[in-house]
This record gives sequence, C-alpha cells and structure tokens, in this order.
Amino acid sequence: MPGSPGSPASALLLENIHPLAVDVLGRAGVSVQQRPGALSEAELVQALPGVKLLGIRSTTHVTEAVLDAAPDLEAIGAFCIGTNQIDLEAAAARGVAVFNAPFSNTRSVVELVIAEVIALTRQLTVFDSALHAGVWQKSAAGSHEVRGRTLGIVGYGNIGSQLSVVAEALGMRVVFYDTAEKLAMGNAVRLSSMEEVLAVADVVTLHVDGRAGNGGLFGAEQFAAMKPGAIFLNLSRGFVVDHGALRDHLVSGHLAGAAVDVFANEPRRNGDPFDSRLRGLPNTILTPHVGGSTEEAQEDIGRFVAGKLRDYAAHGSTSLAVNLPQVITDAGHGTRLGHLHQNVPGVLATVNSVLARHGVNIVGQSLTTRGQLGYVVTDIGSAVEAAVLAELEAMPETVRLRVLS
Ligand SMILES: NC(=O)c1ccc[n+]([C@@H]2O[C@H](COP(=O)([O-])OP(=O)(O)OC[C@H]3O[C@@H](n4cnc5c(N)ncnc54)[C@H](O)[C@@H]3O)[C@@H](O)[C@H]2O)c1
Repeated sequence: MPGSPGSPASALLLENIHPLAVDVLGRAGVSVQQRPGALSEAELVQALPGVKLLGIRSTTHVTEAVLDAAPDLEAIGAFCIGTNQIDLEAAAARGVAVFNAPFSNTRSVVELVIAEVIALTRQLTVFDSALHAGVWQKSAAGSHEVRGRTLGIVGYGNIGSQLSVVAEALGMRVVFYDTAEKLAMGNAVRLSSMEEVLAVADVVTLHVDGRAGNGGLFGAEQFAAMKPGAIFLNLSRGFVVDHGALRDHLVSGHLAGAAVDVFANEPRRNGDPFDSRLRGLPNTILTPHVGGSTEEAQEDIGRFVAGKLRDYAAHGSTSLAVNLPQVITDAGHGTRLGHLHQNVPGVLATVNSVLARHGVNIVGQSLTTRGQLGYVVTDIGSAVEAAVLAELEAMPETVRLRVLS
C-alpha cells in the first residue's frame, strides 16, 4: 500500500556524504542514518528495509538484487556525477527515482586537469622525487610552457567544455572531438575524429562519459597515434583506458608523462591496498579518483542531491531525475498523488475516472512520459479515501503510487 501522507521518511547516507545533506534532509523532517564506508550487495540487502531514501557515492553498487530486497526504497541520491553504479532500469521498473549532481564538481575536475597539465609539462614530479631522494638535478630539457601548446579534449561535455575555456585563458590552443554536436567555446576547434585530435595535440585529455561503448576506447593503437613526447590524462572513467598499453608507451618514452585519476577496479575503502600497472613510472601522477573531490564540490553536491531527495519525498518532484519522467512541482495544497505507471494508452483516463467515481475533485494535474513510464502528479482538494487508493494501486499499469501532502 502507498505511504500515508506525512509519514516521516528515513534516509541512509553512505560513503561520507557532506554533512550539509544531513541538514537539508533533517530540516525537512527526514530521519537520517549515516555510515562512513560503502556497503556490499549483501550488506545493502540487510540495511535497506525501512529505508525510503538512499544516498551513495561512486563505490556502492545498487543492483537489481538490492532493489528486490528494498520494497520501501523510493529514491536513490548519487552524491556524484556518474550513475553507472546503479541499475537505472531496474530502479525505474520498481518506481525508484535516481538523482545525481551533474554539475557540482565540474570546476574541481577542470582545476585538477590544469594543475596536472602544467605539472607534467614542467616535469614537476621528476624534479620533486629527485630532490626528495637527495639528488640535485637542474635542467630545462623537456620542460615547456603550456602557452602555445595544443590541448586535445576528447569528450566536450560539462567538464571538457569548461576545461576548454580555462585552458585558453592560459594561452593554450584547444582542439576537441565529441560524438555529439557541441558548441565550440571561445576559439576552440572541433575536429571530426579522435584520431585527428591525437595527431595534433601536445596534451590529450579524456572527458567522455561512462557509456558501455567507451570500454577500451583508448589502447595501444591510440597511444601510438599520439605525438612523440605528448602527455596523456584520464580523469573520466577507468575502464576507458588500457593501462598496460599506457605503461608501455611511458616506458618506451613515446609519451612524456601521464596523469590518471580513475581505475577500472578501485579499492572500496580508504586504507585498502591499491595496485596498478602504472605504479612506479616517472612523470606519472596517480590520484585516487579525487578529480571532483574538493570541499567546495562536496558541499555543493551535498546540498544539491539532498534537495532533490527532499523534493521527491515531500512533493513528488522528479526534476533532473535520471531514470524517471520529469515532473517539476512545488509544494502542493491538500493531498497529492504521485502515480508512476506503464506508458500505455488510457492510464490518465482510468486514474481520472476512479477519482471522479469517488467524487474526488482534481485541483491540479501534471503528466510526463519517458520511454516506457508515465508519471502523473494529481492534487486533490480533499483527503483521499482508502478505497480510492486501493483502486489506483490495483490498476495493472501502476508501478508505484505515493500519497503526498
Ligand atoms: N575524476 C573524477 O573525480 C570525476 C569527477 C566528475 C566527473 N568525472 C567523469 O568525467 C566524465 C565527464 O563528465 P561530464 O560531466 O563532462 O560528462 P558529460 O556527460 O557532460 O560529457 C561527456 C561528453 O563525452 C561525449 N562522449 C561520449 N563518448 C564519447 C566518445 N567515445 N568520443 C567522444 N566524445 C564522447 C559525450 O557526447 C558528452 O558530450 C564522466 O565520465 C564523469 O563520470 C570524473
């Protein structure tokens, strides 16, 4: 049965989510439990009964089996950008909304890329480790200004396009390739293939998304196609790059340096061991997936995603949901029904005829569809009888019915 209006939501937040998220949810009357680390599938199955809102970052995986064991779950907040760690289709099929923070850490990633491009172009890690080892080794050979060098950006979305602007401000020339049509910022030049970017760029940086087709996007052939002495960065997804091939091209000297922030298999918890083919290489910066991890970004993500969970729990808004039709609502008056259903003809008519038969007056209504799902939010002037809810619940097309006030 759907939850009764006003029944308090409970939230479980994992993976050290920013305390601002607790404030935002707490002020909305949500009771919040927090745990510092990620949970495994089996741990999640144990933890989720009774939890309506789940907050995770990139390490916790929400699989179909987890969703099957979490009948109370209404929404998942991914307090990060990516949502690949969640089975989005399985969540949608069970009426579980998924929200993320698509823009909150864009600037943080861009600033780390800029820092690494300069550090690698000036061989800072080489000088730094020589001095730490007690060896004075001063030379200009192989060190360059970034001004006038060409930055090749593969993936010109939120991060790639902002990087383009900041890199041009430093005097870099920018070329990019994106599979989608993208507006070139400033003087950046769009090229028609990744190969064209590799042929001209002094620095190649990947900012593609996590679609399955990007697995192994960058391997031996692509590294070989880069200019001798070029620098490579990946702060997008670990599975996109063949690290064995990257190692070979660094060891051979074909590439002058690399920075890698993301790995195909990342340790689950702080303190866990880390291994990689890239360990121990000169002029190679390895960071533990911290591109978006600044206090500013975490605070913004905490505020943004908690706000999405709060608005969905309180008044049914699916604005910027990644897996459900988007209905943007503010607080309603009286009782509100959120009805998520199969997107087939006649559902709205059936909902409204049930309400009419019971003498329920509709004061406002909004419907959106997306793929196989429809979502209709209906404000009604009066309290709703159990018989009305039972009839709406019993409709074969109903995926989930929520009663909000
Ligand atoms: N290292 C970190 O801490 C960190 C932080 C934030 C984001 N990220 C990752 O950075 C990546 C980019 O984030 P965003 O917000 O800019 O994403 P976005 O969705 O705005 O942009 C991705 C762009 O890549 C393009 N693209 C996808 N596949 C491509 C391909 N094969 N060739 C060329 N273009 C391709 C898309 O069309 C899109 O324009 C994502 O993978 C995200 O998960 C990492």
